[in-house]
Amino acid sequence: MKETELITIRDEDLNLLLTEIFQRYGYDFTNYARASLRRRITRLMLIDRLPSFAELFYRVRNDENYFTHIIQQLTVNVTEMFRDPQMFKVLREEVLPVLATHPFIRIWHAGCSTGEEAYSMAILLEEANLLHKSLIYATDINPHVIENIQRGIFSMNHMKIYSENYILAGGRREFSSYYTAKYDWAKFDDRLKTRMIVATHNLVSDRSFNEFQLICCRNVLIYFDKDLQDKVLTLFDDSLDKLGFLVLGSKENIRFTKVASKYRQMENREKIWRKVK
Ligand SMILES: C[S@@+](CC[C@H](N)C(=O)[O-])C[C@H]1O[C@@H](n2cnc3c(N)ncnc32)[C@H](O)[C@@H]1O
Repeated sequence: MKETELITIRDEDLNLLLTEIFQRYGYDFTNYARASLRRRITRLMLIDRLPSFAELFYRVRNDENYFTHIIQQLTVNVTEMFRDPQMFKVLREEVLPVLATHPFIRIWHAGCSTGEEAYSMAILLEEANLLHKSLIYATDINPHVIENIQRGIFSMNHMKIYSENYILAGGRREFSSYYTAKYDWAKFDDRLKTRMIVATHNLVSDRSFNEFQLICCRNVLIYFDKDLQDKVLTLFDDSLDKLGFLVLGSKENIRFTKVASKYRQMENREKIWRKVK
């Protein structure tokens, strides 16, 4: 039996915890997919060696610093550069040429974790000679991961796979020309972030803050229940220009959601939709 199977969290306890987190800290996780939330909380209890759910509840209620730690544990921050390279290839070959016709390009990476996705986009824009007239908004709920976007420093261990992804995404330059290696770290060129605006933004509670030609929100909606997915997609719809592009993760879809009838999926079967109404 796995260690995680020894802990069972009752529905009413989970509800109580989520209500406490919301009332005390203003973060609303109530419409996150329950199975995944339960797994994350169980993991948190194991990592922190909490003997009971009551102990966890006590810590959340009484220790403000502990909450920062909870945010890290409840959100899944896995990401990589040029993740799903085929999708980036379609962006490069079919979407950027359309965006190039605009005088100014605004792109929103919502839930972009430590920023690998935003740096990948900056590289695509630079290679298409569009970076100078673009703004990339890189946002996430988690203030800790946001700090890394500003730094632009990623582990050297990942560079081999990122470089392979870049080539699969149609990259032709030497990937290492985009960063300086120092010890175990790769520091990406500052010029890539000159057109980046980095901020915390909570998709559950914060509003639309601009109009965009492209919104990428990948591997975030899978953690939300159906109602919250609808709400967030409506937020994107309000924030997207007519004929703008919406990009989701490989397991996400807008089929059967409130906004579905306003969008047409691009023919190449990547998770890219165009707003047609
Ligand atoms: C698995 S990562 C995806 C990162 C990147 N988009 C990718 O596909 O590689 C999910 C991200 O969603 C963020 N997230 C979760 N809930 C959020 C919310 N309510 N508002 C904004 N971001 C959120 C998490 O902090 C995490 O960084």
